[in-house]
Amino acid sequence: MSSKLEKPLAGRVALVTGANTGIGRVTARELARQGAQVFIATRSKERTEDALDEIRALAGPTAVEWLELDLGDFASIRKCAEQFLARGTALHLLINNAGLAGARGMSESGFELAFGVNHMGTFLLTSLLLDRIKSSAPARIVTVASRAHYRSTGIDWQAVRAKTASRTALPEYSTSKLANVLFSAELGRRLAGTGVTTYSLHPGVVASDVWRHVPWPLRPLMKLGMISTEEGAQTTLHCATSAALAGQSGLYYDESRPKEPGRLARDPALAGELWTRSEQWIR
Ligand SMILES: NC(=O)c1ccc[n+]([C@@H]2O[C@H](COP(=O)([O-])OP(=O)(O)OC[C@H]3O[C@@H](n4cnc5c(N)ncnc54)[C@H](OP(=O)(O)O)[C@@H]3O)[C@@H](O)[C@H]2O)c1
Repeated sequence: MSSKLEKPLAGRVALVTGANTGIGRVTARELARQGAQVFIATRSKERTEDALDEIRALAGPTAVEWLELDLGDFASIRKCAEQFLARGTALHLLINNAGLAGARGMSESGFELAFGVNHMGTFLLTSLLLDRIKSSAPARIVTVASRAHYRSTGIDWQAVRAKTASRTALPEYSTSKLANVLFSAELGRRLAGTGVTTYSLHPGVVASDVWRHVPWPLRPLMKLGMISTEEGAQTTLHCATSAALAGQSGLYYDESRPKEPGRLARDPALAGELWTRSEQWIR
């Protein structure tokens, strides 16, 4: 029999988005190793089999389940949430990890691609699961943002409804990550007193697939100075599991410590406006 010490998350249920690869894959595996029942939500079952097999080998055949989720597509998000909710299980840990960088275009649901996937997808999924999370309290919602948010010059409400304007898509990525930090802070304020706490974070500069859109000659060079996905998952895991953080909510973390986010990310009026507009957009 495994003890509470070995399996501190026994009886807890976690949902991790984008856990077929990168930081999310390590996060899902480590939560399962600590005893959590884990749901992995990704775009492709085929590309998730390896991660599912790894977790089953480590934590047992029923430790993990797969859900289909494309965060760029509201219909897919609604279906994913419906399927999860129909299971009737609690949800103690929602890890909003999935995200893309450096890709251009528009999401299926009509938003600038990074904003549509990284923010709107996360916003809708969290909204749909929120009642279940509240009824499972104490519970946590962890959103993987980025230090790129410091570079955002603000949210242009017209631009986030149009195709990516810049060539690199990095300004748009920064704004989507600003939205992640603002969302997590606002959600924390709205959930005060419910037993559900929120966390956003920078995972470090991690040698994951997130750089897949960077041209080949640059990519291997860039990756040289980066930390591993194992290291990159540590701040997420800390926010999800550390008992010391149970009394904190709405903060931004870097290297497992709270850090002051950028000026725009600390603006409650901007957070409120983002919330109101996002709510209207998902109707
Ligand atoms: N790596 C870094 O240095 C770094 C730095 C700061 C922040 N971050 C953030 O960390 C998080 C994890 O990134 P990572 O570095 O682990 O990158 P990754 O290896 O590229 O993993 C990203 C995950 O997000 C998923 N995803 C992308 N678009 C999606 C969509 N439309 N619907 C559902 N899932 C989608 C990917 O699925 P597919 O495999 O199907 O594409 C993949 O599972 C992201 O939010 C990223 O912005 C990373």
